[in-house]
Amino acid sequence: MATTACEQPEAWNADPGPLRCPRCHGALRRTDAGFDCDEGCGASLPIRDGALIVSGALTDDNKIAADFYDSGQWSKVRIWETLFWLMNGGERRARDVVLRRLPTTPGLRLLDVAIGDGVYTSWLPKDWSITGIDISTTQLAACQRRNSSRDLRLVLGEAEDLPFRDREFDAVLSNGGFNHFNDPEAALGEMARVAKPGAPVVVADEMPDFLDFGHRLGFPGLDRWIASRLMSMGDDFAGLIERHRNIDIAEIGRRVLNDSRYEVIWRGGGYLMVGNAP
Ligand SMILES: C[S@@+](CC[C@H](N)C(=O)[O-])C[C@H]1O[C@@H](n2cnc3c(N)ncnc32)[C@H](O)[C@@H]1O
Ligand SMILES: [Zn+2]
Repeated sequence: MATTACEQPEAWNADPGPLRCPRCHGALRRTDAGFDCDEGCGASLPIRDGALIVSGALTDDNKIAADFYDSGQWSKVRIWETLFWLMNGGERRARDVVLRRLPTTPGLRLLDVAIGDGVYTSWLPKDWSITGIDISTTQLAACQRRNSSRDLRLVLGEAEDLPFRDREFDAVLSNGGFNHFNDPEAALGEMARVAKPGAPVVVADEMPDFLDFGHRLGFPGLDRWIASRLMSMGDDFAGLIERHRNIDIAEIGRRVLNDSRYEVIWRGGGYLMVGNAP
């Protein structure tokens, strides 16, 4: 059955905006059910629960991350996240360290990569237009509920392969997912591609090696146990954290962005990387 217009959130009722065909990179056209490729490659993107579905089958760590954020595990881990924010002056204050690096331009067009449940979107100016992409249907559904009254377009897709035209956004933000992407450098390259030349790209996350107690004692398995059991992340996600613990964020930033600056934030628990799209 075709989806009726009244079931679509307002944002996807309009033209394709910044979207491009994920398969051939051509133009898209609106249909009753979503968007189809207008260049004849056959790509057809449905809209489900307000989100445009772009990603196909996920692989490797993106699959592990999606399973984790789609499951009830994430809500158990949120207890630790809440504790983390409390230790950093409260969630609003801690997140503002990142959000205040965005420009304050009226009507700004923001792309949020790995938007999750969009906890902070209500703190952003109401006249901004936000496009958010994430691999978790559960997180996007929560984001949709939370933001029913603002200009927000959600996409189920991967950071490494953004379905947007070049040079579309005034700023790009990615908070809390970057360390765990299958390919963080490819994702940053995509963020730079879709940002207007010179536009800020703001990336923040916890330190990739934030669990280092066991590694320092010479028992790396202890950190994996802490993540998996004590923090309730499960074996697969704990393994993902271990695999990504040595990524060099500052070096990735230097390779991809202009004037990339890296700083440690949240009392040493996280980093903030800001640069400009070439
Ligand atoms: C800790 S949450 C952060 C959500 C939100 N940005 C915040 O700060 O609260 C991490 C998010 O990254 C998403 N994610 C992980 N890998 C991804 C990828 N390769 N592409 C897009 N989203 C991804 C997860 O689904 C999850 O919603
Ligand atoms: Zn196409």
